[in-house]
Amino acid sequence: MDVSLFSNRYFVRCMTEKDIAEIYALCRNNALYYKHCPPFVTEQSIADDMKVLPPNKDHSDKYYIGYYDKDKLIAVMDLINKFPNEKTAFIGFFMTDISVQNKGVGSEIIHELCAYLKEYGLSAVRLGWVKGNPQAEHFWHKNGFAETGVTYDTDNYTVIVAQREL
Ligand SMILES: CC(C)(COP(=O)(O)OP(=O)(O)OC[C@H]1O[C@@H](n2cnc3c(N)ncnc32)[C@H](O)[C@@H]1OP(=O)(O)O)[C@@H](O)C(=O)NCCC(=O)NCCS
Repeated sequence: MDVSLFSNRYFVRCMTEKDIAEIYALCRNNALYYKHCPPFVTEQSIADDMKVLPPNKDHSDKYYIGYYDKDKLIAVMDLINKFPNEKTAFIGFFMTDISVQNKGVGSEIIHELCAYLKEYGLSAVRLGWVKGNPQAEHFWHKNGFAETGVTYDTDNYTVIVAQREL
């Protein structure tokens, strides 16, 4: 996949360890998210997330990316290609900067991403949100994601698995 084609509006690139401080600055302001999905973010948890992979996947299918509006980081996403199957992409994490929220930026990013992934040949995008997080649930419903009926429990919360067909 060519991440530079994920958006026409924003500059998109793969993030590295050098970007952790900038990602942390974006994440730490999203208190509502971490209330539902503890523990609260740290620079170490971002470093860990940059490396973590689902079962039976390797780094070639992982895209931990940043979206830039000129020089400003406005969104972060963790995308796994071909998971849980060859025709599906999985969004493990998506967050916009609090300064741009509720202006349609997140929806525009997802709209452009889905168009790219369809063109690339995938047929679905899957993700999960924490049960009871109103912001995440509203956002993903608004963007065409529907509950699959699958949920799973972690120690701290329940995850609702949802999918959008492309
Ligand atoms: C979810 C998120 C990515 C949306 O980004 P955004 O740039 O604000 O997206 P948009 O402006 O396109 O849409 C936001 C929608 O959420 C709604 N919303 C915002 N806060 C809300 C809340 N507390 N409860 C319910 N809905 C809420 C907005 O009203 C808007 O919907 P509308 O257009 O129907 O009014 C952003 O809020 C975020 O990063 N949240 C923290 C991380 C997160 O929850 N990520 C997804 C979880 S997997």
